[in-house]
Amino acid sequence: MTETTRAFAGRRAWEGAWLPAAGRLCDYGTDREARQKVVPVTAQYPAISAADIDLSDTEFWGWPLAERRAAFAVLRAAEHPPFFAEPETPFAERGPGYYALVRHADVAEASRLPEVFSSGQGATSIPDLPAEFNEYFGSMINMDDPRHGRLRRIVSRAFTPRMIKKFEGDVQQVAATIMDDLLDRGPGDFVEHVAARLPLTIICQLMGIPDSRYDQVLRDTNIILSGMDPDFISEDPAQAVGQILTAGAELAELVTGLAADRAGRPGDDLVTALATANIDGEQLTSAELASFFILLVVAGNETTRNAISHSLMLLTDFPDQRELLLADFDGRIGTAVEELVRYSSPVIFMRRTVTRDHRMNGHDFHEGDKAVLYYWSANQDETVFADPARLDITRSPNPHVGFGAAGPHFCLGAHLARREVSVMLRELLTRVPDIRAAGPPDRLLSSFINGIKHLPCTFGG
Ligand code: HEM
Repeated sequence: MTETTRAFAGRRAWEGAWLPAAGRLCDYGTDREARQKVVPVTAQYPAISAADIDLSDTEFWGWPLAERRAAFAVLRAAEHPPFFAEPETPFAERGPGYYALVRHADVAEASRLPEVFSSGQGATSIPDLPAEFNEYFGSMINMDDPRHGRLRRIVSRAFTPRMIKKFEGDVQQVAATIMDDLLDRGPGDFVEHVAARLPLTIICQLMGIPDSRYDQVLRDTNIILSGMDPDFISEDPAQAVGQILTAGAELAELVTGLAADRAGRPGDDLVTALATANIDGEQLTSAELASFFILLVVAGNETTRNAISHSLMLLTDFPDQRELLLADFDGRIGTAVEELVRYSSPVIFMRRTVTRDHRMNGHDFHEGDKAVLYYWSANQDETVFADPARLDITRSPNPHVGFGAAGPHFCLGAHLARREVSVMLRELLTRVPDIRAAGPPDRLLSSFINGIKHLPCTFGG
C-alpha cells in the first residue's frame, strides 16, 4: 500500500454516499499504450487473475485505468457474479458483503426489476448509511415505490418542457461566458475554470439561488463531494462526519429559505416549481425539498463536471475522433456525447438490495443480498460493445448505462447533462479548436465517481 492509500484505507466506506475519495495522479499513459495495440485487454495483463482483484480495496481504485479495465474483463468472464467482503467502516457494523454485477445484461436486469433489486436500503453506498445522513442525503435515489414514484411524479412535473427550454438557453449563455473568461485568463486548470463552473452555475440559476450564495454552494458541495480529500475536509473521520452534516444543513437551510420566499413571491425557477408542484393534493414537504435539492446539486454537479473533463482528455487522446467531430460537429455531437458518457462512466456504481429469491446469470440471489451495479464495467462489456476500449464517436447503437439502465431510477438529469456536455464542447472546439489536455489528470481515488480533480490544458500552437 502507498502512503496515500494507507491514509485513506480506513475511510473508504465514505465513498459512494455521493462522497468521493481523495485524488492522486493516475498513470494515464499506460492507458494510451494499451489502446494503441489492438489486442484483447486481458491479453495485455495476463498476470491479473480473479484472486488479485478486490473491489473493496482502496488501492484497486488507484490502479492505472487500463489495468482496471483488464481486471473488470476478468470479472466479466467469471461464471457467476463475483462476491466481495465489505470494507470496515468507522460508522457501522461490517455488512454481509456484496455481489458485483459487472456484465451489461445483469446491470440491465437488476435496474429493470426494482421489486427484486431495491434501492430503499441505500443505492449510493455499499455500507448502509447511518440514520443521521438520511435527513440530508436520503432523497429519491435511495427510495423504492410508492415513495419513490410519488416524489418522482412531483419533481418530474417541475421539469416541464418550458423549464427544460429555459435550461437550454441558460446553458448556452453560461458556456459562452466561461469561454470568454478562459480566453481572457489563458490556459490553466480545465476543471476549475471550465468543467466545474458550468454545472454549478446552471443548477444554481435553475434553483434561483442568488449569485451571492454561489460560493457557499460551491464550498458545501465541495465538502459533500470530496469527503476524503484533505484539501476540503478533516482527515479525522468523526470531524469529517460533522463537516459533511454541517454542509448538508447549510444547503437545506438555503433552499428552505428560498422556498419560503417563493411562497409569497413565486419566481420562474425550479424551487418555485418544486415548492408549488401539486399532484392530486400531494406536495413536497420541506424536508423532501431540502434533500431533493441536495441530491440535484450533488448528482448534477459532480457527474457532469467529470463528463466534461473526461471529454477533453478523450478527445486529446483520440485525435482521429476529434478530427471526425470537428469535420461535422452538428451531425456527430449527438452520438459523440453518448460515447463520451459510455467511455467515462462518471458514476461507477449504484447498489441494490435483494428482496426475494431470484436467479440471474446462473446464480441464486437471496433476500438481503447486496448487489452492486458496475456501470463502468457494463459499459466496457465486449459482448455488447465492439472494441470497447476504443472511443468511437459514431458508435450506434450505443446502449450504454452511464445514466443508469432503463428502470424507475434512470437519471432525471440526463437531458440536461447531455445538453451541458454538447454545448460546452461546441464552445470549446469552435472558439479554441486546438485546446487539449496538457498532461495527465489528477484523479480522484474513488470507487464511486470516476473523477478528475485537476487537468492542465493548453490552447495548442
Ligand atoms: C453525465 C452526467 C450524469 C451522469 C453520468 C448521471 C448518472 C446517474 C446515474 C447512474 C443514476 C442512477 C440510476 C439508478 O440508480 O438506476 C442517476 C440518477 C439521478 N440523477 Fe444523474 N447523472 C448525470 C447528470 C445528472 C444531472 C445534471 C442531474 C440533475 C440536474 C441528475 C440528477 C439525477 C437524479 C435526481 C437521479 C435520481 C433519479 C431517481 O432515483 O429516480 N443527474 N444519475
